[in-house]
Formats: sequence, C-alpha cells, structure tokens
Amino acid sequence: MSLFSFMRLRDIGLFLTSARTDAAIARHRQTMSQGEAMEAVYAERGDPWASASPSYLYQRRKYEVMASLLPKDRHFTAALDIGCGVGGMLRELSPRADQVLGVDVAPSAIAFAQRANADLPNLSYQVSDIHSLPESLDGRFDLVVVSDVIYYLSPLEDEALKQIGARLVRLLAPGGLLLLANHYFFQLDPDSRVTRRIHDAFRWLPGLQLQSEHCKPFFLASLLRRSV
Ligand SMILES: C[S@@+](CC[C@H](N)C(=O)[O-])C[C@H]1O[C@@H](n2cnc3c(N)ncnc32)[C@H](O)[C@@H]1O
Repeated sequence: MSLFSFMRLRDIGLFLTSARTDAAIARHRQTMSQGEAMEAVYAERGDPWASASPSYLYQRRKYEVMASLLPKDRHFTAALDIGCGVGGMLRELSPRADQVLGVDVAPSAIAFAQRANADLPNLSYQVSDIHSLPESLDGRFDLVVVSDVIYYLSPLEDEALKQIGARLVRLLAPGGLLLLANHYFFQLDPDSRVTRRIHDAFRWLPGLQLQSEHCKPFFLASLLRRSV
C-alpha cells in the first residue's frame, strides 16, 4: 500500500494538530489527573486529533486498515473499543459485530462519538478509565481494540504495562482477539520507541498469543489471541 493512498500532503496538518494536542495534554498534566487532561483537550478542541475531520484522510484510512487486519470470515459477538475517542473505529466495527461498546475516559469524547454514530443501533457507550473498567465486563468480548491510547497512560513503567495488559486479557473470552495499534515511524521518534516497548510487552503476556504484527504508515498493529 503506497504512502499516498494513506495520506495527502495536507494530512501533515493533522500531525501538527496532534502535536499541539499532545503539548496541551502535557501542560494539563502538571495540574490534572490523566483522565482530566483528556477531558480538558476535548472540551477545548472538540476533536483534538482531528479524527473525524473530512479534511484529513489519515485517521479514516487507519481505521479501515485496522479493520482489514481482522480475520475476514469472523463475525464477532461483542466488540469493545477502549479509548474510542470520537468513534471512527466504532463505525468500522459496527458491521463486524453484533454489539460494539465504546469506552473512553473523556465524557466529551463519548458525547461526540454518540452524535457522530447516531445512525448505528448496535453501538453503546460507557465513560470509564481503562484502569477502572468494571469486572462485570470480564470475559464478555471476542474482540477488544485499543488504538493510540496506551502511550498516554504515563508513567509507563514495565510493571504498569503488564498490569494494563493483564486487565485487557481478562476482558477477552477464550479465543478472543486483541487488536493493538500505536503510532510508529520506524523507531525514529521517541513515541515510536514507546510503541515498540508496548507491543513487545504485550506479545509476552501470559494468556495471549501473537497472531500477526503489521507495520503500516504510520502505525504498528499487533493482533493477539487469548488462549482457549
Ligand atoms: C489519540 S486518542 C485515540 C482515539 C482512537 N482510539 C483512535 O485511534 O483514533 C486517545 C484516546 O484515549 C483516551 N484515553 C486516554 N487515557 C485513557 C484512559 N485512562 N482510559 C480510557 N481512555 C483513555 C482519550 O480520551 C482519547 O480519546
């Protein structure tokens, strides 16, 4: 797949928008919790990573490519998108699953996603921090998606990563799939190196087996399966 089918020159504006949002999050984190900082950028900017903007191709293509990495012949009973933001990936998941739950720590993100996807009746929503997902969700999902979320959960020590990973494994039914995606630019920038560390930690988690890894412009995706 060529770089230009993924993005246009003006998509560079998207990366500048994202960099400004990330800088705003870093500022807010001096006085706020991680969840409050996320809500603040949605409250200030509406769509802080321009994920729903028709001006940019990149995020839409990212969601399409992520969906294309799922096994073609598999229909899911219950899918979960954690850190769903304004809901672009929920739209891709809707035809692939009976029910899709979108979770985000930011109430304003969930409100945006609900408005944007009001035509899709199999979507539901919950405001929750990834660290405090209710145990009632455990074992309920045959697909969990976590895209461009984990590197915001600083500090991201190896032990913290293992705990988040173990929590995600518990959400999966036996045989369920975890689709993990994070920004990646050939390990050239610091965020890409964090991404490599996240994906390496997940591939060794007890109870998960790596099915495939895909390096796309500009993200890394790992598809992992919960052991039966
Ligand atoms: C860069 S956006 C990615 C949105 C979407 N997953 C995508 O790929 O376009 C990061 C999202 O993660 C959410 N998030 C950050 N920390 C979170 C946490 N602790 N629990 C749940 N969601 C969180 C943010 O509110 C934000 O919507």
